[in-house]
Amino acid sequence: MSSINYAEKIPNNVNLVSDRTLQRALEHWQPHFLQWWHDMGPSDFESADVYLRTAISVDAQGWAHYGAVKMPDYRWGIFLADPVAERKIGFGDQMGAPVWQQVPGEYRSTLRRLIVTQGDTEPASVEQQRLLGHTCPSLYDLRNLFQVNVEEGRHLWAMVYLLHAYFGRDGREEAEELLARHSGDADKPRILSTFNEPVTDWLSFFCFTYFTDRDGKYQLKSLAESGFDPLSRTCRFMLTEEAHHMFVGETGIGRVVKRTLEVMKELGTDDPKRIREHGAVDLPLLQKYLNFWCSSSLDLFGNEISSNSAANFANGLKGRPDESQYEDHVLRAASFKLRTPQGEEQVPMLNALNEVMRESYLKDCEIGLKRWNRAIERAGSSFRLTLPTPQFRRSIGAWVNQPVDPRGNLIPREQYEKQLADWIPSEGDKAFVRSLMQKVVEPGKMAGWVAPPDRGINNLPVEYEYVKLH
Ligand SMILES: [Fe+2]
Ligand SMILES: [Fe+2]
Repeated sequence: MSSINYAEKIPNNVNLVSDRTLQRALEHWQPHFLQWWHDMGPSDFESADVYLRTAISVDAQGWAHYGAVKMPDYRWGIFLADPVAERKIGFGDQMGAPVWQQVPGEYRSTLRRLIVTQGDTEPASVEQQRLLGHTCPSLYDLRNLFQVNVEEGRHLWAMVYLLHAYFGRDGREEAEELLARHSGDADKPRILSTFNEPVTDWLSFFCFTYFTDRDGKYQLKSLAESGFDPLSRTCRFMLTEEAHHMFVGETGIGRVVKRTLEVMKELGTDDPKRIREHGAVDLPLLQKYLNFWCSSSLDLFGNEISSNSAANFANGLKGRPDESQYEDHVLRAASFKLRTPQGEEQVPMLNALNEVMRESYLKDCEIGLKRWNRAIERAGSSFRLTLPTPQFRRSIGAWVNQPVDPRGNLIPREQYEKQLADWIPSEGDKAFVRSLMQKVVEPGKMAGWVAPPDRGINNLPVEYEYVKLH
């Protein structure tokens, strides 16, 4: 089951050849996908040879094969993690019942919506990042960008497979719509707002892969718990790809910090103006980017109080990330203490699951911060990077439009408006960051605002020509 058949038009490990109707439907969608990639993907780099990894098997040992590929020739396909024998629903009111191999009729539209919402983010991020190649800080980074891009393309395939295989005609229609909406489009935008934000510089890209791909990790983890087994298996394999995206974010920001510390030492100052004149990102500026992307990504978890998330959990459709770490998997008797602008409120746990997920996500976000702050401390600086409070700059839920500072204090609105430019990137900050974004494509060379990585890809040296541009 684990081995992937690359002889077919659509590589897969789901025995696609045994279902001719499904195979034909997906083969019909395939050229639409390729056209979308050509129109909306990193299309200025179609002739480049990129050192990419491709899945060869879905087990932990040997899923990756590395080699030079032109991106339009990447073998996007359908890969599901191996089934778990006798798998049971692990949470909610039907806990302990066998998982479903088909979509239960009563949950059909909810499951379709969950899959479409996840699916929509995948091509959205490719669209957001499509021009970044023109300002890459190195060939190493360029390759990482393209690796992320092709894998997000594959994640779209993963969701489209589910839509085609289990949702009939509406599923096929949704699959077309996934190619018709576009990030930032005035008429047909992507579903979630973070995926309509432009990602036009590499500092934003590193923050996006750190914070927004991590939201992806949490969504996939909760869907991997689903009682709908094909969704669970699909998401489990996607998670192995997602880990690389967060690696790009965490090491990317870490390298920015490292370079800034070098410049601070060289100049003997932490004066942001002098650091910028030297072509590096001062730490307060990096903090603003963290504030922006973290707060934007926190919105993706939705309302603090949500009857949808309660129903999805109770019905066994969407669990909590790492459900097995909890003791109570039914939550009918549990409650949650929620902070609202009106004060603390006790709410049924089932209704607060978005918030539970947001909290565990934030904890995961702390890991990188600790690492970066250790480097800052070692360099003898007293500056510390922090995460904004989840009440800061929210555009969804109880804290919408509330004047909360990044530390979590409710402050006078006037003061908030005035200080916002100190907390998230101002136009001047963005213009400065853009000015740093000069394309560096000589093998082994790095832009001046970011330190080289500690090691290359797949045991190759950092100087390796990871992308051969023609
Ligand atoms: Fe993804
Ligand atoms: Fe991702």
